[in-house]
Parts: sequence; structure tokens; C-alpha cells
Amino acid sequence: MVIDIKNYKKIVFFTGAGMSAESGVPTYRGSGGIWHKYNYEEFACQDAFDRHPQKVLDFHELRRKSVLECQPHNGHKFISELQKSHNYVTVVTQNIDGMHQRAGTENVIELHGSLWRLRCDDCSITIDDIGESFTNKKCKCGNYLRPDITWFGDMLNEKVIQQASEAIRNCDLFISIGTSGVVWPAAGFPQEAKSTGAYCVEINTERTELSGLFDEVIIGKASEVLTDLSFRT
Ligand code: APR
Repeated sequence: MVIDIKNYKKIVFFTGAGMSAESGVPTYRGSGGIWHKYNYEEFACQDAFDRHPQKVLDFHELRRKSVLECQPHNGHKFISELQKSHNYVTVVTQNIDGMHQRAGTENVIELHGSLWRLRCDDCSITIDDIGESFTNKKCKCGNYLRPDITWFGDMLNEKVIQQASEAIRNCDLFISIGTSGVVWPAAGFPQEAKSTGAYCVEINTERTELSGLFDEVIIGKASEVLTDLSFRT
């Protein structure tokens, strides 16, 4: 398939866990998905953190360790290269793994936060923390620092939603990659792109609940499809 890039002024890549699958980062709901192995009510929600902060931090250290053992793939690199050669390429991701940034993509809008940040809600501080283990687990106020990730039951950061919505409402090419489209409010963004006139493409290894609203659905693996896609500039 050929996408005539010069026909598009503003491009948004909207990515989910499937975007990092070929790097070795497990998805959430597919086969071998994280939520098949771990009950998010025990490892990835505020209640669990209040009850057993160390257990929740250990789970997220495991995730950090496994992500650090993975490398961005050609699909990630393709997007960062395109961003360098095209005026306006934005990535809106549900992923917390930082793979887009590791591939050199800038200004990534992280809808669900990041594995590489911690925060204290009482002190309203957020701290960058990169590495297998968390450098600091306690805030100076004595509270445990919680991963700056949107867990089940959490509201998304309003400012981040606005940034994402603005990018999506202004884009003319919207490419959704590797998301099942079952988690809201993120799953509402493809419709927002469609209703504001963008040409919408879905890339996934299977059809999703949202496939019907796309102009084009490409069944295939993210890195293979992206590298096969020729962007005629
Ligand atoms: N290339 C493209 N798509 C793929 C690939 C691949 N190599 N491998 C899997 N997929 C697709 C699957 O078919 C599925 O539709 O990626 C999707 C992954 O879906 P989920 O595991 O549900 O992940 P995602 O949609 O990102 O989850 C959304 O849910 O658990 C929460 O906060 C978490 O951000 C996450 C949100």
C-alpha cells in the first residue's frame, strides 16, 4: 500500500501494546497478555497500591526489567525517521514502555503515563526514574512514590487528553497501530479523528471492535506493515 505523504500535512500515529509486541514487550489481552498472568486488581490499581505498595512496586520493577531487555523495532524507527523528514508527525500512545522515545521520536503524548516516572500525589511532584529498580521508593514526605501510570479506575491526566485531542482533531492522516480499542477514553480517539475529517488507517494483526470506522484496515504486524508501507514524499 502506498500513502502519498505529500497529500497529508499533519499525521498522528495512535499506538497500543501491539506496537511493541515485536520488540518482545507483552500485550495486555492477546495470547500471553499481562492481564492473563497478573490480576490488575492486585498489581495495577490505587487500592492495591494502598494495601501493598511494595508488591505493586515489585510488579512494576519486573515490567521495567523486561522492557529494558527489549529494543525498539524498525516500525518504531520508521516513525521517528518520518518525524524528522515531515513537518508534523505526532505520536499519541497508550504505551508506558517509552519505546517510541528510545527510537528517537520526540514529543510523544503518553495517554497512560510512563514506567519511567514516579509521583507523589500529596506533594504533587513527578520524578523521572529510569533503570531496572526504582531509585527512590519513598517521597521526602514519607509516602511511597507511585508509578506515574494510569491504572484501572484512574482518570487520565486532563492536560494530556487535551494535547492528544488537539493533535487528533487537527490531523489529516490518522494511523492506529496495535490497539484492541477496548479501553476508554483512548478508544474514542479514532472516532474523533474520523469525525474531524482525517483519513483513518488501522494496522493490527486482527480486526478490532473499531475496524468498521477506518477508511483502510491493514492486517499485519506493526514493524512489517510500517516498513512495507512506502510513503511517497
Ligand atoms: N502488530 C500489530 N498489532 C498487534 C501485534 C503486532 N505485532 N501484536 C498484537 N497486536 C494487536 C492485537 O491484535 C490487539 O488488538 O495489538 C492489540 C493489543 O491489544 P491490548 O493488549 O488490549 O493492548 P492495548 O489496546 O494497548 O490496551 C489498552 O489497556 O490494559 C490497559 O492501560 C493499558 O494501555 C493499555 C490499554
